[in-house]
Amino acid sequence: MLDARNVSARQGRKHILHDISFSAQPGQVSAIVGPSGAGKSTFLKAMTGDLAYSGSITLNGQDIAQARLADLARIRAVLSQSTPMAFPFTVIEVVRLGLINSPGQDHIAQSALARVGLTGFEGRFYQELSGGEQQRVQLARILAQVWRPLGDDGVPSWLFLDEPVSSLDIGHQLQVMRIVRDFASAGGGVVMVMHDLNLTAMSADKVLLLKDGRAIDQGNPSTVFRNDQLSHAYECDLFVNRTPSTYAFILPQSAAPS
Ligand SMILES: Nc1ncnc2c1ncn2[C@@H]1O[C@H](COP(=O)(O)OP(=O)(O)O)[C@@H](O)[C@H]1O
Ligand SMILES: [Mg+2]
Repeated sequence: MLDARNVSARQGRKHILHDISFSAQPGQVSAIVGPSGAGKSTFLKAMTGDLAYSGSITLNGQDIAQARLADLARIRAVLSQSTPMAFPFTVIEVVRLGLINSPGQDHIAQSALARVGLTGFEGRFYQELSGGEQQRVQLARILAQVWRPLGDDGVPSWLFLDEPVSSLDIGHQLQVMRIVRDFASAGGGVVMVMHDLNLTAMSADKVLLLKDGRAIDQGNPSTVFRNDQLSHAYECDLFVNRTPSTYAFILPQSAAPS
């Protein structure tokens, strides 16, 4: 389990996160949404051990603030919002960077690449790929890092993803949502920052809504995604539809049926 309690954090001298409590379960896909600048990436960085915070965060019962990054790397992999690569790596070289927990096991790198639909791209230069292809290569890299969602010891692995579908077309967005669902179904945990509310409603078991560094609400998307709450958070009129009845989808109010 991921358990964050009363987390506050600064970026530079600015107080960004205010007293956020949030939990995520292995076996589930959890999403963090909220307007730009709400603190989603900052909160993700605190949860992955990449930013100092006050309050407490534990992952699988381990205190993040006390854990060594090398130990965290065994149980969690992080897809950042952007991953610049300074050297002219080929695609397979980038994915191999993820093999820190299984050095030399190239079949895992190959399988991870296949998982994101990029078999055949091994020898291409990363820098010469489209933004969406680069994003999928990075996803393959972190999948390779925590290739097994659940260890033999029953300890779950975690994926922390910052806007994993921001550069992807709708087909590849759905592919990534399938990958994270499969990871969770196999016993792993997923925490992902999302912009697309509809894809979130469709894909997440739990959602945390942030605004101005504060948690407005969390829970099942169909309870968190309400007209008043979303319109307040995003400062525009939004209308939550219930058709199809299986999950919510959100329309700008101007497009809502009258
Ligand atoms: N390194 C930094 N130094 C100062 N302010 C930062 C830094 N990184 C982010 N911020 C500020 O923190 C706030 C939250 O940023 P971020 O977590 O990236 O938001 P989100 O991911 O929700 O769009 C923003 O106001 C942003 O300008
Ligand atoms: Mg962000």
